[in-house]
Amino acid sequence: MKKTVMMSLLVGVSLFATDYSKVITHPDASKLIEKDLLAPPKVYTMPAGCVTTDPDAIARGEYIFHNLNGKKAKKTPPKGLSKKTKNGKPKQYGNCVACHNIEGAKGAGNIGPDLTDYRENFINSGARDNQFVFQKIADARVDNPDTYMTINLTTKLFTPREICDITSYIVAPK
Ligand code: HEC
Repeated sequence: MKKTVMMSLLVGVSLFATDYSKVITHPDASKLIEKDLLAPPKVYTMPAGCVTTDPDAIARGEYIFHNLNGKKAKKTPPKGLSKKTKNGKPKQYGNCVACHNIEGAKGAGNIGPDLTDYRENFINSGARDNQFVFQKIADARVDNPDTYMTINLTTKLFTPREICDITSYIVAPK
């Protein structure tokens, strides 16, 4: 008796069991990889009036340079910079100190060149100009295809205005 009940239950279940094989989607892996690929290197022209001596712009650049994101940053961000994105998520900053030393850096990394005394050593000497620094931060691959540096404008991690702020900070007399 028990066996018959079990059997009919099993038959019932298998009769009504749904065939999920048609529901499960099989995404095209090559399309997924394509979507995650970095866009090719892009040349940018520094916008007019980009590099400025405005203390707020320099302060924003400094904040972006020395901080990782809005969740970890301790001090209040300077005027015109927020700790959160429009969607309320913690804003991602540059964390440039992970690779570069500069005035006042704490625990700076040395994967990238030391940017201390940048104005004196690189701008005033004529070795570099503001446009070079802007392009380097926007998309370092244009100058160096094998760079380890992060790509910031082509990836839309930062806006041109924010790249200007960081450039202003680096080339500012300190
Ligand atoms: C993962 C490490 C890394 C991070 C993070 C990084 N950089 Fe770099 N950076 C490099 C390396 C390596 C170079 C040298 C190679 C090159 O020029 O592409 C470099 C070069 C530079 C130069 C050119 C210096 C010169 O005159 O030759 C500037 C300016 C610069 N980085 C600024 C920044 C800023 C600003 C940030 C943050 C938004 C940043 N970097 C984040 C690794 C990094």
